[in-house]
Amino acid sequence: MAEEVQGHAVDESEESESAESSEATIAVHWREEGYYPPPPKFIGQANASDPAILDRFAEENFPECFREYADLLHWDEYWHTTLDTSNPPFWKWFVGGKLNASYNCVDRHLAKDRNKAALIWVSEDENEADAVITYQELYRRVNEFAAVLAELGVQAGDRVTLHMPMVPELPVTMLACARLGAVHSQVFAGFSGGACGGRIADSGSKILITMDAYYRSGDLLDHKVKADEAVEAARKEGQEVDKVLVWRRFPGKYSAKTPMVEGRDIFVDELLADHKGAVVAPVSLPAEAPLFLMYTSGTTGRPKGCQHSTGGYLSYVAGTSKFYQDIHPDDTYWCMADIGWITGHSYIVYGPLALGTTTVLYEGTPNYPDAGRPWRIAERLGVNIFHTSPTAIRMLRKVGPDEPAKYDFHFKCMTTVGEPIEPEVYRWYYKYVGKGEAIITDTWWQTETGGFIGTGLPALFPMKPGSCGPAALGIYLDILDENGESIPKGSGKAGNIVSRAPWPGIFQTIWGQPERFVSTYFAKYNKDPDSTDWHDWPYFAGDGAVQAEDGYFRILGRVDDVINVAGHRLGTKELESSALAVEEVAEAAAVPVVDDVRGRVVEMYIALKPGVPADAGVEAKVTKAIETDIGKIARPKNIWIVPDMPKTRSGKIMRRVIASVSNFADVGDITTLANPEVVDKIRDQVQTAKRAKGEEPRELSETEEQEIKAFGSE
Ligand code: WTA
Repeated sequence: MAEEVQGHAVDESEESESAESSEATIAVHWREEGYYPPPPKFIGQANASDPAILDRFAEENFPECFREYADLLHWDEYWHTTLDTSNPPFWKWFVGGKLNASYNCVDRHLAKDRNKAALIWVSEDENEADAVITYQELYRRVNEFAAVLAELGVQAGDRVTLHMPMVPELPVTMLACARLGAVHSQVFAGFSGGACGGRIADSGSKILITMDAYYRSGDLLDHKVKADEAVEAARKEGQEVDKVLVWRRFPGKYSAKTPMVEGRDIFVDELLADHKGAVVAPVSLPAEAPLFLMYTSGTTGRPKGCQHSTGGYLSYVAGTSKFYQDIHPDDTYWCMADIGWITGHSYIVYGPLALGTTTVLYEGTPNYPDAGRPWRIAERLGVNIFHTSPTAIRMLRKVGPDEPAKYDFHFKCMTTVGEPIEPEVYRWYYKYVGKGEAIITDTWWQTETGGFIGTGLPALFPMKPGSCGPAALGIYLDILDENGESIPKGSGKAGNIVSRAPWPGIFQTIWGQPERFVSTYFAKYNKDPDSTDWHDWPYFAGDGAVQAEDGYFRILGRVDDVINVAGHRLGTKELESSALAVEEVAEAAAVPVVDDVRGRVVEMYIALKPGVPADAGVEAKVTKAIETDIGKIARPKNIWIVPDMPKTRSGKIMRRVIASVSNFADVGDITTLANPEVVDKIRDQVQTAKRAKGEEPRELSETEEQEIKAFGSE
């Protein structure tokens, strides 16, 4: 990827390698899937059923077309410039406009919907009652907690790190920050204390907000322990945390074993007692004021704090929630993602609440205590819009294919996000979960894009399993080859998917790394860095894709060094630098392995320092290091201690070769390697061990094979 190769002399062997991999990604053939038309009942009630909407968002109406999204919000002051391109590619939307996100998601719904449920929270423990939080109650909680934060000195522009599980206190905390104009940075609760600490330091947060404990697969986990680790890790990077605010899973009762630190840690329920009935005026902020940071992985070891704006982002998630998820105010909407990821920010909290609907939050794992759990929740709450990832669908299908039929629930529409969905899995979702009545919206987007950018309007475009569909409203996607030439649709050729124009939901910058923002996402296809014409700044998404004759896009996966495990991005560099911190490790390489449930899993190859015996137990140390630095989700499926790594003559580890070994794929041409003889040794060692464990994978599809064979080559 651009940022990796910049300033780094490319020698001959590397050049031939990248030429070869771009050749490899050129021709992609797959069976064209049949269409499923949207049911008439759905069309009849859909928010976007008149094709005139496509004309309103046609390119000649750009960027003014996005007024339609922004007009879904309450603005304290209307904007004077819809899109300001004067400092490319740092686009500014709705300039001159002022608003507050918390006011838009809470206060403005009180007049009409005071007693409507804003949030319905479902505990993982089936014996614990739901928490039904009306808009009035949400208003009370957000105001009281905003008063707590204000008393601690939190002001507009301050960053506040959250490391919270799936509890109603999480959206309350986010909205309280937003009320004050503070920039929240929520770190997925499954990430380790160390990973949280790195993000605290990167964002310069002085306050960490966490919870003592939460339920996961039946256990009440001690989560507070991670706060202590996070504060320590941040301190090592030079960032002091002044206060740790600890919500209690059961207010009044401390459920963690880790002691509170005198003078630093405070129970939120005790602070709230002094602010009963407090009302805090929402701070009216410029449209381009940052609303939050969301960290994601990239090519280097340092995570990227994607900064999202208040006005552009909120408009975009409100608009896409309305038209693509077809959210109406009286729907009961459930997105089974975690708020710790962008999906949860955009499509559990901000989009649905901006539209004044009821959004469901579930604390635990989908198959706890059994695979019928999601369908019991849907039946009991009357959920009519459902949103989840292909990994969750594959898992629920595997463990309980007949479960949905046992429950009386009816979805009008369903969303998938985060990974390509295999047509076979799509058909199960359609038939058994949707019961043949619900449409499926496959949505392609990223942490960086804020909201869906590749997906069809559900009442206007038929579904096609395995394809996300055409570009979203007001988005102009294209597929470019390595030279920046557009690849015509229907050619069967793959390339890099780009968005030709900006849109309101795009992130504003990488926190503290503006040059990385430009080099990673724009440098590849920008020909004139001085141009203030947006046409010169295509957004490089880092995904490979093909466009069929009908205009539908099929996403093939990442073209950078990122592995998408269960829909979550893990950077190989992050995994490898963690392994390299283990004293005995000389070299480490992480590669993806195709997995029937999680999409991809990680395998790690390790070469030891001279003199370290192969049976020194380094595998356990590497696993531990990864769990400490990143979290259990990043734990490799297998760690292979190998005598040497296959390398180019310039010493670069050939990840595509070891990825092929791990996936039982053909290793391709290895004549350019400095040490081709090592490949047979590794293949024999790894594949024999895998067979012994019963891990021989199924045959790879053509696109999977392409991905593996191109892995790790720029
Ligand atoms: C992948 C998640 C195929 C893609 C919202 C992207 C998808 C990365 C789809 C972003 C989809 C997301 N079909 N692949 N519908 N949606 N992806 O930042 O590789 O966690 O670049 O955002 O997930 O992951 P992220």
